[in-house]
Amino acid sequence: MKDFKVGIIGATGMVGQRFVSLLENHPWFHPVVLAASSRSAGKTYEEAVGPRWAMNTPMPEQMKKMVVMDATADMEKIAGMVDFVFCAVNMDKAQTRALEEAYAKLECPVISNNSAHRATPDVPMIIPEINDDHAALIDIQRRRLGTKRGFIAVKSNCSLQSYVPALHPLMEEFGVTKVLACTYQAISGAGKTFATWPEMDDNVIPFISGEEEKSEQEPLKIWGTVGSEGVIPATAPSITTQCLRVNVSDGHTAAVFASFEKKPTLEQIKEKWAAFEGAPQKLGLPSAPKQFLHYFEENDRPQPKLDRMLENGMAVSVGRLREDTQYDVKFICLSHNTLRGAAGGAVLMAELLAAKGYLD
Ligand SMILES: NC(=O)c1ccc[n+]([C@@H]2O[C@H](COP(=O)([O-])OP(=O)(O)OC[C@H]3O[C@@H](n4cnc5c(N)ncnc54)[C@H](OP(=O)(O)O)[C@@H]3O)[C@@H](O)[C@H]2O)c1
Repeated sequence: MKDFKVGIIGATGMVGQRFVSLLENHPWFHPVVLAASSRSAGKTYEEAVGPRWAMNTPMPEQMKKMVVMDATADMEKIAGMVDFVFCAVNMDKAQTRALEEAYAKLECPVISNNSAHRATPDVPMIIPEINDDHAALIDIQRRRLGTKRGFIAVKSNCSLQSYVPALHPLMEEFGVTKVLACTYQAISGAGKTFATWPEMDDNVIPFISGEEEKSEQEPLKIWGTVGSEGVIPATAPSITTQCLRVNVSDGHTAAVFASFEKKPTLEQIKEKWAAFEGAPQKLGLPSAPKQFLHYFEENDRPQPKLDRMLENGMAVSVGRLREDTQYDVKFICLSHNTLRGAAGGAVLMAELLAAKGYLD
């Protein structure tokens, strides 16, 4: 694979810091631009992040002295310096949408963690193991934007990153009809740590703005089919969710209930999970977990503290599968929200798109 020069827009934030850490030794992707708001622009990365560095590993030496650029004012310059950008910014939706589209129109592909374009029908929202075929939407989008190289591809919300992968291998044979998911979401999902959000110590907050709508609607786009104008969303399963913020640093847990057209046995479900692999495993992409879905037989697993870093935070852990009295089955699942659920998932998506030739 060729080497790609990449930019990280929002490099000083929680997800941006994950990108910086993940790309330190990436075999294909080499960060040459770190960009953020005008508040950080002109400072070294080390100065701009300051005490906000929230990773368990030290800030990479080669990034410390890089001077942060202004994602908006320096846009043309940045687009000329890189092959594509990762984008994770905390701006309002309209501003984010405009920023991403401006980069795409400058022929700079945007791999985004933001929600602004997730509902745009010709913007693919890809979980690489599940819907790699949605990359074909890029051709439709390029026609709309009038670009040759430029496009936007997005990651889904981090909340659904555990239960959509666990349900996916069951869809074709058993037909998932109805899902109820309650998510228990880590504070890093709000870009926070216990130092910056002390109210979360010894607490649960039963509301995350917009999260339940995203958790219910985005899976239907992911399971949709590619039409001539954009994605045609799936009509099933029907999904209802409740999303809670809990006092965990990293790792979103979900308690899931599901019903099927043709009810599988618990053993059949476990077999499907164990056998499941997608394009990243088949293509041997650098960030792909070897085993995407790990099932734990122990009753007290998965736990964020013990299991979120499974396969470098890129695997999904599942446990406590059993029959239910109101739905057919219930189980618990977990994924790392800033790795698989954000930066790691975006890096894997970029690897997939590079392997398919969309970043050439
Ligand atoms: N945290 C997660 O687990 C997670 C998961 C999935 C998706 N996301 C999404 O990823 C995005 C970033 O989340 P986060 O948690 O990393 O947020 P964050 O920690 O608050 O970081 C926000 C970043 O956006 C930059 N920014 C703010 N205003 C800007 C502007 N006008 N122009 C350019 N850059 C600007 C900030 O730069 P300054 O430092 O200069 O202010 C910072 O780099 C959000 O859309 C979020 O919904 C987050």
